[in-house]
Amino acid sequence: MANKFYDPGEGRGARVNDLFAAIAPRYDLINDLQSLGMHRLWKRRLIGLAAPRPGETALDLCCGTGDIAFGLAARGARVMGLDFSGAMLRVADLRSRARTTPGEAPKFIQGDAMRTGLPSGAFDVVTIGYGLRNLSSWEQGLAEIQRVAKPGGRVLVLDFGKPDSPAWRQAYFAYLRWVVPRFGKVFCGDSETHSYILESLLHYPAQRGVERRMRELGWSGVEVFNLLGGMMSINYGRTPGGE
Ligand SMILES: C[S@@+](CC[C@H](N)C(=O)[O-])C[C@H]1O[C@@H](n2cnc3c(N)ncnc32)[C@H](O)[C@@H]1O
Repeated sequence: MANKFYDPGEGRGARVNDLFAAIAPRYDLINDLQSLGMHRLWKRRLIGLAAPRPGETALDLCCGTGDIAFGLAARGARVMGLDFSGAMLRVADLRSRARTTPGEAPKFIQGDAMRTGLPSGAFDVVTIGYGLRNLSSWEQGLAEIQRVAKPGGRVLVLDFGKPDSPAWRQAYFAYLRWVVPRFGKVFCGDSETHSYILESLLHYPAQRGVERRMRELGWSGVEVFNLLGGMMSINYGRTPGGE
């Protein structure tokens, strides 16, 4: 195995859970440092594209410490955040108690994004930020999203991307390979917590593959929003049915 947190087989979920148990207390700090705070702008962009209206229902899968869930709730949506990591959800709960933003607080629940157990056709909006890449089957994740979204539901996937430009891609992968693992080493005592990002990205089809799959599933309005030349990306689509 190239990275101890990346297991291509049956153990994938358990290893990913170990990873987030290790980094949960410092997750928000490292995010700010490694992206120079820009992840906040990308999440804001996602929330703007999701355009939740007051009273709409929204599900944020792989919610982690809750950034996207809190952002959707501040727009007046009734939000559920789901994650399988108890450690990440504990941070989300602490933040929820301290929060000052308007709107109903998100409800955080523990569960698996590939089989949520939530009712079918329940959500106007489904978001997943830096989560799809971590699932043992991203295709199963998208299928579950389609199941829980209302017909015509708005789906947004934010994640590390693969730039189309070979030179840009090379420079970016070099940053992920040589710089980002240092954040893991300094803040978690283990560079592998963060070399995992590149390892998982190399095994993930990123924005173009997700776009293709959304089209194969018959979703409408499918679009890719590249950020920083495709280093990050947001996939947008609406599930079949609806108006
Ligand atoms: C990189 S964090 C992203 C957190 C948050 N969405 C954000 O953007 O800051 C990935 C999250 O996905 C969760 N996760 C990974 N696989 C999961 C699964 N199968 N079911 C539920 N959560 C999962 C992890 O526990 C972790 O909290």
